[in-house]
Amino acid sequence: MSMLARESGMAEQMAAFGAEWLPAEPLARHTSLGVGGPADMVRLRDLRHLPELIGDLCRRGVKWRLLGGGTNLLVVDEGLNDVVLHLLREPDGMKFDGMRVEVPTAANLGTTVTECAKRNLGGMEGLIGVPGTVGGALRMNAGAYGTQIGDVVRAVTVYRGSGGRVEALRTEDVRFEYRHSSFAPDDILLSVSLELPERPYAEILEKIKQCNQKRRASQPINEKSAGCIFKNPPGYSTGRMIDELGLKGTRVGGAVISERHANFIVNRHGATASDIFKLMDSIRERVHRTHGVALEEEVIVWRN
Ligand code: EPU
Repeated sequence: MSMLARESGMAEQMAAFGAEWLPAEPLARHTSLGVGGPADMVRLRDLRHLPELIGDLCRRGVKWRLLGGGTNLLVVDEGLNDVVLHLLREPDGMKFDGMRVEVPTAANLGTTVTECAKRNLGGMEGLIGVPGTVGGALRMNAGAYGTQIGDVVRAVTVYRGSGGRVEALRTEDVRFEYRHSSFAPDDILLSVSLELPERPYAEILEKIKQCNQKRRASQPINEKSAGCIFKNPPGYSTGRMIDELGLKGTRVGGAVISERHANFIVNRHGATASDIFKLMDSIRERVHRTHGVALEEEVIVWRN
């Protein structure tokens, strides 16, 4: 579908669903890496209109992708043909019930960890410095310092793009693996029920402090990045391999391999996505030549 055909009446139609139409929105504004070209964006606050809105996009033959917190995302410079769906929801509204808590997926992950701690619920301390939303963390099965979010999930409420229905999934219905989950690309996660071990607040706080310290010491937390750029192949540490190759500080355009953690690429000088891809290619090539290991992207790449 041509961009023009899509434009006609789009803003009005989206307004009828209570959504905002933002044509050619620069995605660099919505990603922690600060790179990425334009895409037409639909911004929705009231999720009651979600099924109608998605139905409408499907009828028009418009493909869509869901944007979460944008903290593990690398978008190409030329932008995207697909519409980017951005759900602006109220992140509050956590419901506590004993060892269980129901969390809207729009909630910030770090806030969720600390709010649970205040109610003496632990088990997520390792996730404290992981940026992004609970929804993004679930989709990627975010993990750090021995904790993976998938381990504490009991149920997930999902809007299934395929069936056009809201479904309640239990742990058995979802597979969580290393930085991967079995949700379909058009599943929109709405809320999650977590079951967490009861611990004294002071004990949880101490663990949180330790994890924060470790992260501050070993990761470039104050720079623009998307976290680790490659996965760790079984039995290897990608950060260590890149470090041992002496590649820290290597720069392509505005993108630099962090001196603090070699598996982070930081946008230090107005980088483009293309700078980052070039740096990734050279890392992949060097690691493959030296270790015979093919690195796999950890960051999610959006390209046409
Ligand atoms: N190391 C180096 N040089 C470096 C980086 C690491 O020698 O530049 C060494 C460390 O000294 C350590 C080993 O490599 O002996 C592992 O490093 P680290 O503990 O930093 O963990 P990692 O395997 O590099 C993983 C996750 C991180 C997560 C940390 C902490 C992946 C790809 N990365 O990193 O997750 O925060 O463990 O648990 O799984 C992310 O998902 O974006 C991410 C950053």
